[in-house]
Amino acid sequence: MRYSTILGIESSCDDTAAAIWHNGKILANIAAGQKVHEQYGGVVPELASRAHQSNIIPTIRQTLINANIALNSIDAIAYTQGPGLMGSLLVGANTAKGLSLALNKPMIGINHLQAHVAALYIENPKPEFPMLVLLVSGGHTKLVRVDDYMKMQTIGTTLDDAAGEAFDKAAKLLNLPYPGGPEIDRLAKLGNPMEYTFPHAKVPGLDMSFSGIKTSLLYFLRKSTAEDPDFAEKNKANICASFQHHMVGYLIEKTRKAIAEVKPKTLGLAGGVSANGSLRSAITTLAKENRINGCIPAFEYCTDNAAMIAVAGHYLLETGATTPLNAVPFSRNSH
Ligand code: KG4
Ligand code: ZN
Repeated sequence: MRYSTILGIESSCDDTAAAIWHNGKILANIAAGQKVHEQYGGVVPELASRAHQSNIIPTIRQTLINANIALNSIDAIAYTQGPGLMGSLLVGANTAKGLSLALNKPMIGINHLQAHVAALYIENPKPEFPMLVLLVSGGHTKLVRVDDYMKMQTIGTTLDDAAGEAFDKAAKLLNLPYPGGPEIDRLAKLGNPMEYTFPHAKVPGLDMSFSGIKTSLLYFLRKSTAEDPDFAEKNKANICASFQHHMVGYLIEKTRKAIAEVKPKTLGLAGGVSANGSLRSAITTLAKENRINGCIPAFEYCTDNAAMIAVAGHYLLETGATTPLNAVPFSRNSH
């Protein structure tokens, strides 16, 4: 192994996170959330970058303490290079550059989406390839074919909103707090998933669309509240359960199609929405039905975290790759 201790830094959106990977194990994994966005019902980029500025050094310091690792024992620094909010990415990138320069250790820029997939290797270091991964987060929704650890190819993608975004927008329509995904997941457990039905977007192949469901829900709520102003409040659990049922059903339908195409040996779930209880069990069932290994990360590795950045860093560094100090973050995904 080229590098036995890697510091991971993640700052692409609204979580300031650091983690230590050491010889195949995550010794510490800390994420400082940013409560400042809650009152706005979504992430405010300017506020996110300011919060990263104040959080990043204390987060790294605490991570080193928790891992019981001295700063100068770090062999390499892995950081999120993109995609994400530029002002947020710059904080992590510049911190990585400063550390790389001061410690005279290499740094490696990581694609945040590839890192969500690499999160699967933390608990499953030897998956059988090819692996098919349903990557569902707040910013992206993709079906990814993985032929080797960091050899990935997008075979299907959303044409508009991401699945997490759809959860968040639906939650906003229901006056639920941000981020809405976990809240819908919680309320859905108390409701009937068959109470209401929403139409599936007709998109050919493995691509997806989630903007229609938001509009369907909006019109449904407008119509129902015109008849009874308290409709949404009284039926919150049933609406959440039905919306979630729709979302999971659509994601599973596309994943099933991708399985037929890729014929994978492993089926993985990644990204923030993979914390969703109903989606986790649906993917597990789908894997069983197809007699392939199902692979779902622990909750702490589903949403944005730095452990996945550190582990992706490990696999890329093993190939001999490093990132020069003049590297620039990228806000959009081009991979
Ligand atoms: O991967 P992630 O932490 O950040 C991005 O890279 O986007 O994903 C965040 C998204 C948010 O949209 C959030 O609402 C959603 O993941 N999410 C969930 C659940 N937990 C987080 N969606 C549905 N059910 C959940 N339990
Ligand atoms: Zn993410």
